[in-house]
Amino acid sequence: MRYEATPNAHTDFKLERDARNKSFSVDEEFRDASSNWRAMALERKYMNSFSWLGRPLIQFPGDVMAVQELISAIRPTVVIETGIAHGGSLILSSSMLKLNDIDGKVIGVDIEIRPHNRDAIESHRHADLITLYEGSSTDPKIVEQIRSHVGPADTVMVFLDSNHTHDHVLGELNAYSNMVSVGSYLVVFDTHVEDMPDSYVWHNRPWGKGNNPKTAVHEWIKNNDNFEIDNDIENQVLITSAPDGFLFRRS
Ligand SMILES: C[S@@+](CC[C@H](N)C(=O)[O-])C[C@H]1O[C@@H](n2cnc3c(N)ncnc32)[C@H](O)[C@@H]1O
Repeated sequence: MRYEATPNAHTDFKLERDARNKSFSVDEEFRDASSNWRAMALERKYMNSFSWLGRPLIQFPGDVMAVQELISAIRPTVVIETGIAHGGSLILSSSMLKLNDIDGKVIGVDIEIRPHNRDAIESHRHADLITLYEGSSTDPKIVEQIRSHVGPADTVMVFLDSNHTHDHVLGELNAYSNMVSVGSYLVVFDTHVEDMPDSYVWHNRPWGKGNNPKTAVHEWIKNNDNFEIDNDIENQVLITSAPDGFLFRRS
């Protein structure tokens, strides 16, 4: 990864960790087992069971760890999230800013914020950093409203987790990537849709193999070489919904 998660750890620890993560990148048996496990978990909606500080979030636990490392290491002052659902990921980001003593804010957008979710998010003890927008994340008016929260001195991190079709994610990448600070990350969740077995049926979902966040990332990155895919994060986490989805802005 392009950040140091453990700045104060002993050098031997870091070298050992980095070597272990590198070994995972070529450990086919472990990778296949992780990928099979992830597919079984998705089929069973495993990641719909968790919550963060009382709000449900729809993430693999490993991705929660990745978000924790990213926020702690990069120290964003603005976190932008598309796809709110029950609000757990917004509360995760907000609480991480506070735990890291970062004077920051979290902006969330969802096409539909159900009243009970809005109430629960807005009355949460970590809601004070959060601003909610209701509408499509690719609606130019919403994008401009969100952009207005970003100042020249901000460090911005973006998490995309809304509609998982190719076109929608491509639209989000085009709309939000230029808000991401150099040295920070744009994370595209649910790229693992592309890696699900051919037999997997996406009931009532417009996305699937060939039409998903990973296909959007692969198309988009060809014309955006100021970003690079940081595979080191997925090599560490392994059970992540975001393979090829951790995008580092290098210039
Ligand atoms: C996977 S959930 C988000 C999960 C959340 N980030 C978490 O970790 O708990 C996806 C959300 O995207 C929202 N969504 C769907 N289409 C959207 C769009 N065009 N713009 C914004 N949000 C959208 C859905 O309403 C849903 O709440």
